[in-house]
Amino acid sequence: MQTIFSGIQPSGTITLGNYIGALTQFIELQNEYNCYFCIVDQHAITVPQDRLVLRQNIRSLAALYLAVGIDPDKVTLFIQSEVPAHAQAGWMLQCVAYIGELERMTQFKDKSAGKEAVVAGLLTYPPLMAADILLYNTNLVPVGEDQKQHLELTRDIAERFNKKYNDIFTIPEVRIPTVGARIMSLQEPTKKMSKSDPNQKAFISLLDEPKQIDKKIKSAVTDSEGLVKYDKENKPGISNLISIYSILSKKSIADIEALYEGKGYGEFKADLAQVVINEFEPIQKRYHELMKSTYLDEVLDQGAAKANLVANKMIKKMENAMGLGRKK
Ligand code: TYM
Repeated sequence: MQTIFSGIQPSGTITLGNYIGALTQFIELQNEYNCYFCIVDQHAITVPQDRLVLRQNIRSLAALYLAVGIDPDKVTLFIQSEVPAHAQAGWMLQCVAYIGELERMTQFKDKSAGKEAVVAGLLTYPPLMAADILLYNTNLVPVGEDQKQHLELTRDIAERFNKKYNDIFTIPEVRIPTVGARIMSLQEPTKKMSKSDPNQKAFISLLDEPKQIDKKIKSAVTDSEGLVKYDKENKPGISNLISIYSILSKKSIADIEALYEGKGYGEFKADLAQVVINEFEPIQKRYHELMKSTYLDEVLDQGAAKANLVANKMIKKMENAMGLGRKK
């Protein structure tokens, strides 16, 4: 059975973008692959975090993984910082990655732009991400489109290590969904929907109340044409909303266009809000139950135990390959 690894940062609320770009892929893939899904809290501290809020977000993300339908009997769900091998391997891979290639990452450029003091972790984020993936002999990494560049770098780092030291890493492939790989901001539809957007109206959170969802969709930026027609170039706002509708309702884009022919954006948006609310309602119910349960801790303990076992084996191989420590 082939192995999958993917991670989500507990750096705030989970958005409709994370849900469509990542989580729905995970649910589909868990039946066919040996899956590791991670709450990457060490990545989250590359930007300022409040200690108590971060703790809460870690737990909340774990509950959301389960609430959307991740089955802990099929997958290994764990918190990155509870598997020290990630930081160990991350360091070794920092000694393989070049500063130049790290500086070229668009995420680094975006997050460091205009800042006076940039923490080193923001630059060395990709070798830690490579470590996450390479520790588990991962074949496939399901992510949204924004992570493609990091995945290409992971492959480069792995190939470089294999050539320079010893051929120990599986070279992972990226898996980006054909639709929904990039859900856009509701306020600036040429920009990715992001949980760190200061404008709350720009994104829908998986935990938003029905009323908030309705309001956000109704105030989503469209155009003045009033035609429910998919045209990403010229009508990015309505096209983004049609994509969301299509993915969640499993109706084709053509069917949606036909359904709303001669009807305005108002009716379309009201229906889309209902589609999103219906999708999220059972997830939110399970989420609130899980947050109160001790089951969540059991799952995370088991996940960490399994991940530690597998990851520590790779650490030994890496240390041997690089000549660290003593021969055992
Ligand atoms: P993060 O936490 O920003 O996002 C988690 C996942 O959600 C996807 N995503 C989106 N997909 C579609 N439309 C959007 N608007 C949207 N926004 C986010 C992301 O592509 C991602 O799949 N560096 C990673 C976390 C990470 C990781 C890893 C991922 C750390 N180690 C190893 C895979 C493998 C990140 O910041 O994702």
